Amino acid sequence: MEPFQAVPETSTARTPHLTLGVFRPGLTCPWSRRAERYGAKGCEERADWSRLADGVEGVTTEQRSGCPVQEDFDPLSEEFLRDPFAVLASLPRDGAPVFYAPTLGYYVVTRYADIEKVFLDNESYSAATAQLPLVSLVPEAARILLAGGHQPQPSMVSLDEPAHRRLRNPTVRAFTPRRVDAMAPRIRATVDELLDAVDPSAPFELVRALCFPLPATIIFSFMGVPRKDWDTLKEWCGSRATLAWGRPGPEQQLCDAQKMAAYRGYLRQLVGSKADARADDFASALLAIHDEDPESLTQDEIASILFSLSFAGHETTSYLIGNMVRRLLEEPGRWQCVVADPALIPAAVEETLRYDTSVPAWRRVTTKPVTLGGVDLPEGAKLFLWIAASGRDPSAFREPEVFDLQRSNANRHLAFGKGIHYCLGAALGKLEAQIALQELTRRFPRLRLLEGQTIRFHPNISFRGPLELWVRAG
Ligand code: HEM
Repeated sequence: MEPFQAVPETSTARTPHLTLGVFRPGLTCPWSRRAERYGAKGCEERADWSRLADGVEGVTTEQRSGCPVQEDFDPLSEEFLRDPFAVLASLPRDGAPVFYAPTLGYYVVTRYADIEKVFLDNESYSAATAQLPLVSLVPEAARILLAGGHQPQPSMVSLDEPAHRRLRNPTVRAFTPRRVDAMAPRIRATVDELLDAVDPSAPFELVRALCFPLPATIIFSFMGVPRKDWDTLKEWCGSRATLAWGRPGPEQQLCDAQKMAAYRGYLRQLVGSKADARADDFASALLAIHDEDPESLTQDEIASILFSLSFAGHETTSYLIGNMVRRLLEEPGRWQCVVADPALIPAAVEETLRYDTSVPAWRRVTTKPVTLGGVDLPEGAKLFLWIAASGRDPSAFREPEVFDLQRSNANRHLAFGKGIHYCLGAALGKLEAQIALQELTRRFPRLRLLEGQTIRFHPNISFRGPLELWVRAG
């Protein structure tokens, strides 16, 4: 991952608007609904990064009146990164399930029922902010992104209907359960190969040994990315996390924007080369759909789908495996329970997703005035859906602070979202975590956390898991 450069609040200064005409005539423009709403003439004429941010910056203090404000709530603060659940416990959630966080410019939604409602109502809540940079971009960074083909709503997860469906439908067709099941032997072989390389007689660092390389290997080989390019792709994904979900300063923005443009260009080229040399991979499966009707799925759209999967397919799962091992080891007895009864492994994965998910927050923006959690929100209100808090909501889960391998409704969690954007990789992510845990518990029945370590987390709002996890096998 890229080193993170923290910047003071002033870095959120507004940037001048940029213009661009990039959407092909005849395609439904994903940007148009929002662009029209905020006064742009049409997406052919204008699409810029700062305009969407206007949605919240245009929300006045008067409009926020009646909504509780938590001045010091900052998910990028050291205190929060260290222990978000301690911050959650300190909030008056019953009295204020929705509050405004000035450090973000977002309304924070904490309750299970409210978050579920937002996920299910894609008419009132747009996904347009899902990958929006938290900070306004400096003009040069925005220019580099736009020139590189990276839009303010850069991929499937941030598009609303019908543009979202155009990408999701072919992805579902190519990402079949059969293809996911067929990945089990490869996942197993990769776990074996990675763990064979570990020297169990000394403490070892599990993220580097397993959590990080496993999902990257699986998703990149599934997509059809040549092995020699994996490290570069991983680096570009780090830039993506920082740019959209962190608080990079101007210099860091420029560096990340260049990498994002290179990342986009690389995927377009990959699709072009696969078009001439098909293989048994996901990119080729999408190209076969393109062959049926080139207008219903263009090669650029295939590159956009690969952009979605290349990122969503590994950071999420690396962190899930790290969180799971950490939570099983931090309390004596949990690991032993799984060692003694491997049938508990699927439950261990689900309980981790509820108790300490790897995607703790996701974003939406209101398309009209709504009432949520008793708070009246204007159109254009940006929402920080605190998924991790929903897993600790006592009205959804009994004794939510307890990590319980026997919990009967753990899989009710909202870790994969709900509704039209429900995570396409949920089955794959869980399969990887299960196989990793099967093999770890089989090989290392006495695995322990190394004492005295401080677990660190990457400073971003949406992806959370240990950056390093030192363990000893005996
Ligand atoms: C295992 C841990 C994972 C977690 C916790 C997770 C979580 C999420 C969340 C919260 C969303 C957004 C849902 C919404 O907006 O309503 C999402 C969407 C998505 N995820 Fe995952 N994900 C994981 C793994 C994966 C994997 C392994 C892949 C790919 C192979 C993947 C691919 C996607 C895609 C393509 C979307 C966008 C779907 C759409 O917009 O229609 N995810 N995921």
